[in-house]
Amino acid sequence: MSHVRVVPFLSRPALPALLLPSGLHLFSSNAICRSVDYSPFCLVIYECQCQVGMNVEAHNPIAWFDRGAVLHSCESAAQKVLQGKGLQGMKSYMQRQPAPQSSQSRDTQPYMKIKPQICLFPISLPHEGKRNLLVTSALPYVNNVPHLGNIIGCVLSADVFSRYGRLRGWNLLFVCGTDEYGTATENKAREEGLTPQQICDKYHAIHSSIYKWFQIDFDFFGRTTTEKQTEIAQDIFWRIHKHGFLIEDTVEQLRCEKCQRFLADRFVEGICPHCSYPEARGDQCDKCGRLINAVELREPQCKVCRQTPVVRSSKHLFLDLPKLEPQLEQWLEKSTSTGDWTANAKQITRSWLRDGLKPRCITRDLRWGTPVPHPDFKEKVFYVWFDAPIGYLSITANYTDKWEKWWKNPHQVELYNFMAKDNVPFHSVVFPCSLLGAQDNYTLVSHLIATEYLNYEDTKFSKSRGVGVFGDMAKDTGIPSDVWRFYLLYVRPEGQDSAFSWADMALKNNSELLNNLGNFINRAGMFVTKFFEGCVPAMELQQEDKKLLALVGWELQQYIQLMDKVKIRDALRHILNISRHGNQYIQVNEPWKKIKGGDTERQRAGTVTGVSVNIACLLSVMLLPYMPTVSQTIRDQLNAPQSCVNTMLQGTGTFVCSLSAGHRIGTVSPLFQKLEVDQIEALKKRFGGQQVFDVATSNGVDPEKAKQLTQAVTEQGEKVRALKAQKAEKAVITAEVAKLLDLKKQLALAEGKSSEPAPQKGKRK
Ligand code: 2FM
Ligand code: ZN
Repeated sequence: MSHVRVVPFLSRPALPALLLPSGLHLFSSNAICRSVDYSPFCLVIYECQCQVGMNVEAHNPIAWFDRGAVLHSCESAAQKVLQGKGLQGMKSYMQRQPAPQSSQSRDTQPYMKIKPQICLFPISLPHEGKRNLLVTSALPYVNNVPHLGNIIGCVLSADVFSRYGRLRGWNLLFVCGTDEYGTATENKAREEGLTPQQICDKYHAIHSSIYKWFQIDFDFFGRTTTEKQTEIAQDIFWRIHKHGFLIEDTVEQLRCEKCQRFLADRFVEGICPHCSYPEARGDQCDKCGRLINAVELREPQCKVCRQTPVVRSSKHLFLDLPKLEPQLEQWLEKSTSTGDWTANAKQITRSWLRDGLKPRCITRDLRWGTPVPHPDFKEKVFYVWFDAPIGYLSITANYTDKWEKWWKNPHQVELYNFMAKDNVPFHSVVFPCSLLGAQDNYTLVSHLIATEYLNYEDTKFSKSRGVGVFGDMAKDTGIPSDVWRFYLLYVRPEGQDSAFSWADMALKNNSELLNNLGNFINRAGMFVTKFFEGCVPAMELQQEDKKLLALVGWELQQYIQLMDKVKIRDALRHILNISRHGNQYIQVNEPWKKIKGGDTERQRAGTVTGVSVNIACLLSVMLLPYMPTVSQTIRDQLNAPQSCVNTMLQGTGTFVCSLSAGHRIGTVSPLFQKLEVDQIEALKKRFGGQQVFDVATSNGVDPEKAKQLTQAVTEQGEKVRALKAQKAEKAVITAEVAKLLDLKKQLALAEGKSSEPAPQKGKRK
């Protein structure tokens, strides 16, 4: 039973989605399989080798739990649910689920609605002689709802590549999860009046449901606040320690006695020691741009309670990056030359190394984090950026006990890391150094795929200012998940920044999806239905057909070459080229006229129809990574054999007709709907947010606006800091600093302060 795995599902649609493609076997000794009212929480046990599930009593979870508790195997499976809190943890979790609607269920007790589902499913492990790909997307911070930019940068890109990899026949594992520790979570908890754990539970569920809606097909979506995380992070720490790559140093830090905590640099404000700007933050001054040591700030204030913090010294541990640098350089040389690193990933990494590495503090005086196990550093936790990437390993360990087969297997496994560019240095320098220092044959990144930024219309996404579309809003627009995916992938910031625009989304939907792709596939299917009684006609290929097929073959090869190199946006263009060629071909050959002619003409109509419908089938497979539902719908309409999915993209891409003469297709119907101008305008108004801080309209004190602006200032400050960390171009930094200063000015106005720096105490202006 060592391979048993249990995963919670929070909503009903996950179940069929999970069951269908993988050929799961459901234990069916009771009503659960027939039940139409799926539970809000299904229990799935993967690769279960004995019939634990036979004891499940669908309508009596209490009995199930009691019986489950005596079964060691079930217990160990259940321990993996809810991050090692065991059966009891799972039970209380389920009890906290909302009571069923009385109209939908006759059950009255809150957790009576739960019907555990038990399935068989093979765990993915590397295989000798296969291409084994381990795919990760950057772990999203748990304390925020992800926006479209977050979605395209990490999870959606990795999802498309993973789906593609599976079509290619590669052996692949795709993991992700929420990044849950750190000050930001503690602050969010304070803001919402919840405990950090409650914040994590709440937002983890929000992230899960958003990704589910976007059809992100993780093998496992975990979280970083688990026992495995502590175990693995502490093990890595001790190894680094043992090999002499840690340095101890005493650091002077600000501590707020009122809040009873050390203040992270970002949570202190004061007067800049260089230019006297009164609102400098503990790590930098936004006015003069200089980096600051928080203890040098004049008149520092705790940002939470506005008390004056005191200086305390505290001992910390630093990762000795300078000592690891030669090993790092040697590894980087190889990885960047043999792997697929995006240009920005290489450039950001180079600029970090160019200036020489400095020791990096890996401990923090915080509570919400993985505890540092060293007796001299009790009460401290690991710095989030030391801890978070270890989440990839621990999340895999929560998926399978054999996680080391993925993570300590550099010769058999290729690791793909997907992220936005601000995450690059942590994945290319800091984390590899931790793993190199730990010296345990870890799998290091082979392919580092970083996107640029996605803007919203002509500005940037901002939760605080209500600007942009966030993951949870997309589904309320009524636009299908596949169309969202298509458009985000169409404008994927691949190689350069790009923008989401409502008008452009409507345009691309109407021109590319409806008029080009959908039109071609629909016509091909309709000709079979209308002119050939639903059966693919016999084909006698003429020169013109061969020419088209050669063109299609070329586009297919381009698609494969680009996708192999993770050029997802570029590859999509070749799908659309194929349907464009197809439309032209139909237009020129006019099968609707030829079908009315003599035998030769009718034969010609048959060939054109047969060729077209086969190209439609190919398109369905090429589309699968981008639009999984549309892809399946096309194959359902064409009644295409499952085998075409498994074969069409293997090898170098030779086009084969998979629907031979006589094949009966299914019912054909339109795939896409037009997005009308007024509809898109209404959506833009409703979901698009707006720049609520137009200076012209901001007159007078507005506490609500001030609150939002405070958040906006924080976000913009973070952006500036990230740009500086990446050593971005000076002009870019200056522009962002200007935006920051402008926001601060607006904040001052909203708070009823003068927007000019206030005269300092005891000084005359
Ligand atoms: O930037 C972010 O959203 C981080 N939470 C990414 C962490 S990636 C990995 F290291 F965990
Ligand atoms: Zn304070």
